[in-house]
Amino acid sequence: MTTAAVTDGPARRRTPARSFLSGAGVFWFAVMLIGQWAFFYYIAAFYGVSTISGDLEIWNRLAALGRRPYVEGDAFGNAAYASHALAAGIIAFGGILQLVPWIRARFPTFHRWNGRLFLLTVTGLSLSGFYLVWIRGTSPSFIEGLSTSLNGVLILTFAALALRQAVARNIDSHRRWAMRLYLVSNAQWFLRVGLFAYFAIGKSVGAEIAFGDPFLKFWTWGCYLVPLAVLQIYFIAQDRGGVLGRAAVGLGLIALTLAMGTGIVVFGIFSQAIITGAPMGLPG
Ligand code: HEM
Repeated sequence: MTTAAVTDGPARRRTPARSFLSGAGVFWFAVMLIGQWAFFYYIAAFYGVSTISGDLEIWNRLAALGRRPYVEGDAFGNAAYASHALAAGIIAFGGILQLVPWIRARFPTFHRWNGRLFLLTVTGLSLSGFYLVWIRGTSPSFIEGLSTSLNGVLILTFAALALRQAVARNIDSHRRWAMRLYLVSNAQWFLRVGLFAYFAIGKSVGAEIAFGDPFLKFWTWGCYLVPLAVLQIYFIAQDRGGVLGRAAVGLGLIALTLAMGTGIVVFGIFSQAIITGAPMGLPG
């Protein structure tokens, strides 16, 4: 991929500060790609295999994270959960491909159909998510249910806006709403990666880490509001940042991407333990 960055808009005059900012965008994209495809592997290996083999009780290995998605005797609810988790695989695998300018330019038909599939899938995920929270009661707490529900409302709103701008051929505006949609659609992933980055970074500086920490309460909402805010700052820096502004935002994005990369590695190890049923070694 060239540095005609993932998050770049229409062609703009190249300056070192702009190149640095868009290079930070490409770095974020590369780390995100690894994390998303690792998540796809987790979904396929954990939910795909257990759904095919009918071994659904293993879902409750997530009890370590306060979740008990498998309920004995609740065939409809278990099926709804399975389709919710499996559909998330479509987002993890195919969603990231929508961000690659090279694919958009060379394979516009693929971009269009993959985009339609993404929109359909996130709509289904939001509706099944509302069911899981408010009818089935699968959410670990009322606050988490509220937060994922706001997440669902944002997904449906941004999906409608991204689609409307695409149909109207307002490509720059479509790209921005699609990026926002992409980030809010990945809230469940950001939630886990942020949680594990916090555990790992906190431990490495010798802090006492526990599940009740304020950061984790904040991150219930921050998992989609922070990525949205960072994206907005990135857009502002692109549009009217100045040299210092672009350098500062580029550096900030690189630092956040390194934290995200840490979370991806630690969550990857943890999800491998979920897949195999090995001990998980989480803080108390
Ligand atoms: C496109 C957006 C979404 C994706 C990609 C997604 C993905 C996932 C995944 C992968 C899981 C399994 C978690 C695990 O194995 O650790 C899950 C669980 C769950 N999702 Fe979604 N989801 C989305 C949207 C939503 C929405 C909008 C809601 C609520 C309105 C929701 C509610 C839930 C609930 C209640 C669970 C089970 C408990 C939990 O893990 O919190 N999801 N989701």
